Amino acid sequence: MAKLRKGKGKVGFVPTMGALHEGHLTLVRHARSVSDVVAVSIFVNPLQFAPTEDLDRYPRQEAADLALLQEAGCDIVYLPTPDVLYPKGFVSRIEMAGPALGLESDFRPQFFSGVATVVSKLFNQVRPDIAVFGEKDFQQLAVIRAMVRDFDMDIDIVGYPTVREKDGLALSSRNAYLSAEERVVAPKLKAALDRIRGVAKDGGDTNRAIAEAGDDLIDTGFDKIDYIALRDADTLGEITPDTKAARLLAAVWLGTTRLIDNIAV
Ligand code: PAJ
Repeated sequence: MAKLRKGKGKVGFVPTMGALHEGHLTLVRHARSVSDVVAVSIFVNPLQFAPTEDLDRYPRQEAADLALLQEAGCDIVYLPTPDVLYPKGFVSRIEMAGPALGLESDFRPQFFSGVATVVSKLFNQVRPDIAVFGEKDFQQLAVIRAMVRDFDMDIDIVGYPTVREKDGLALSSRNAYLSAEERVVAPKLKAALDRIRGVAKDGGDTNRAIAEAGDDLIDTGFDKIDYIALRDADTLGEITPDTKAARLLAAVWLGTTRLIDNIAV
């Protein structure tokens, strides 16, 4: 990497777990437009999965991914194996507070430590000037921004808006788990978020709108609401008088698939 980057200008980087879709590819094209060399990593990171989660069934489609990346203008694909990133004797973790607390962490306590640890390793290996992350994982984006700031990493973190299907469903590698019936129900999550946003914009009772939206989702076929929450978009904590922008974030279960989404309010 050091040799490749020498004299080649800015390196843009998009870390992924593969099973690439148009959301990932949009990030790659954006990286292409703001950097000279584009690197993408594909690594299904065991550190960010709990033993009960979907590490083993996470979709893997390396050949298709490589073809898509070539088409999207990616120059370098990094495909480390677990023993390359976590060799025997690997003992370190990045633990974070601030934006890493609450929301996802209440349901996936290992998640952000796993993400921050792997992303910091990938950053040190690839040494990008710019790294592009999706707003689809809004809390993750906030965690990465905080890590880069706190550890003086000289990397410009760029957040990119969520790419959606025509019916509003946010693209996700995990959508592959949905049955045909579940796929029909899935867009109701985004519709519910939009309804809550409407109430918030009209100065209505957002707590009530959130509770009602949760009940409606269960009635229409969702199985469990992990959270639907209106938060400060910068801190991801509760809204305060200092809040400049708010974000509505949700994680819900449809059958055995956990969907997450968020919108600006
Ligand atoms: P993964 O889920 O593969 O996502 C890789 C990147 O693609 C993330 O920045 C994510 O926010 C973005 N992305 C996913 N779906 C998107 C969509 N519909 N629109 C726009 N961007 C989208 O996020 C991870 O992998 C991992 O946690 C990782 C950061 C690679 C660390 O292991």
